[in-house]
Amino acid sequence: MRIESFSLSSIVLNLASLASFFAINSLFSRNHSLFSGLSFHVFLFIPPFTRMLLQNSRYTLGGVDVLEVVEEFGAPLYVYNADTIHRQFTRLDRAFSGIEHQIKYACKALTNVNILRFIRQCGGGLDTVSLNELHLGLQAGFEAKDIFFTPNNVSFDEVKEAIALGAQLNLDNLPMLEKLGQTYGGSVPVCIRINPHIMAGGNEKISTGHINSKFGISITQLDDIVRVQKQYGLDVSGLHMHTGSEIVDTDIFLQGAQILLEAGRRFKTIRFFDFGGGFKVPYKQGDKETNVEELGERLAALCHNEMKQRGSSFYACFEPGKYLVSEAGLLLVRVNVIKQTPATTFAGVDSGLNHLIRPMFYKAHHDITNISNPEGAVKPYSVAGYICETDNFAWDREMNEVREGDILAFHNAGAYGIMMASNYNSRPRPAEVFIVNGKAHLIRRRETLEDILRTQVVLDL
Ligand code: LLP
Repeated sequence: MRIESFSLSSIVLNLASLASFFAINSLFSRNHSLFSGLSFHVFLFIPPFTRMLLQNSRYTLGGVDVLEVVEEFGAPLYVYNADTIHRQFTRLDRAFSGIEHQIKYACKALTNVNILRFIRQCGGGLDTVSLNELHLGLQAGFEAKDIFFTPNNVSFDEVKEAIALGAQLNLDNLPMLEKLGQTYGGSVPVCIRINPHIMAGGNEKISTGHINSKFGISITQLDDIVRVQKQYGLDVSGLHMHTGSEIVDTDIFLQGAQILLEAGRRFKTIRFFDFGGGFKVPYKQGDKETNVEELGERLAALCHNEMKQRGSSFYACFEPGKYLVSEAGLLLVRVNVIKQTPATTFAGVDSGLNHLIRPMFYKAHHDITNISNPEGAVKPYSVAGYICETDNFAWDREMNEVREGDILAFHNAGAYGIMMASNYNSRPRPAEVFIVNGKAHLIRRRETLEDILRTQVVLDL
């Protein structure tokens, strides 16, 4: 299984982390202030362990015993490890060090304000897609100028409010650009999202830069964009693309970047290019991941060439979601029933598509570890939820023997886990816990029946 067989590589990884630990700590303590108003401090100590480890038959994460976390906060439970987010942020930041850049966390992946505050401490900005995300960013202490607003198919009223709040605007349709010009002339800087017509990303549901995608203004309509820009004297501060999630192929990424840079030659006012997110992390052993170091090197070269061609410099922006938080999260669930059928052995758990929809929605793979029985014989289990609809998380997955009451950990649950959760079957959403500096903090309490009823209006019938 993944975690067990990682023991040697995790030792190597941890030694490497240990070596960089002092350097990273000193870097951050120099450049960034500590969290204020919370009972934990982020950069006092960063343990070198960023993945779940098996030590003396107990699983730990970020120095905390995972089963003890479940005992304290109950199941089902989302748990996030700050060290992993920090590791990922630092790796990406270094990978793009060949060019002046900003990392804007695509917070739709996980918007708990504590996570946002932590990413701000790492030095990140934000990419938001709704006014509520924008407000959460402001609450988390981001300055409006560091918050990008990248909506799709919203009303102009929403855009006006984002402008009033001071966010950086990123628009993706021509009628909205016209309205912007009519209302504000060139007084509000605007970034424009281009659809470069390339097929990128892990599956069709998460590909956003192809010809049939609803996102961005088609690259074939560049002349129209220029016409609107000239008509109203729009201040085009940047061009943007986001072509999909889980892009492994750096060539595809660079192909999109080249199209964007060439389009940028039509706009003298450009200060930045935003190349979006979509960097892939491994979800299982042997899974490919984006080689961000190679990408960073090649992209920086491309950008520097372009600067020569333009005769002016610009900075680059990136919008990682999964890359920063996917591996940081676990969903911990309890086994309610072991059911033997002629076809398989089901482990029925106290969760379902209402808490983690990715396996059902995208056929996504999430590794699952039985953390209650690390020494148990390895057998195949099909893990299924408690929702009255087929919600199988995994078929015939090899796991240490699963017994009633055991706790299973779903990996890579940090991104698009709780954020896509619902109250289907009138089930409450799980609590969330954040592990920082070797301590587990509750950052969202479990929902209750009262929460589910809160917005309902009971009629006097
Ligand atoms: N920027 C924009 C404009 C986006 O729309 C997205 C994601 C990102 C950045 C971040 O992409 P990431 O780095 O996380 O791949 N729910 C799906 C993923 C949907 C992504 C939507 N847009 C999933 O669970 O796979």
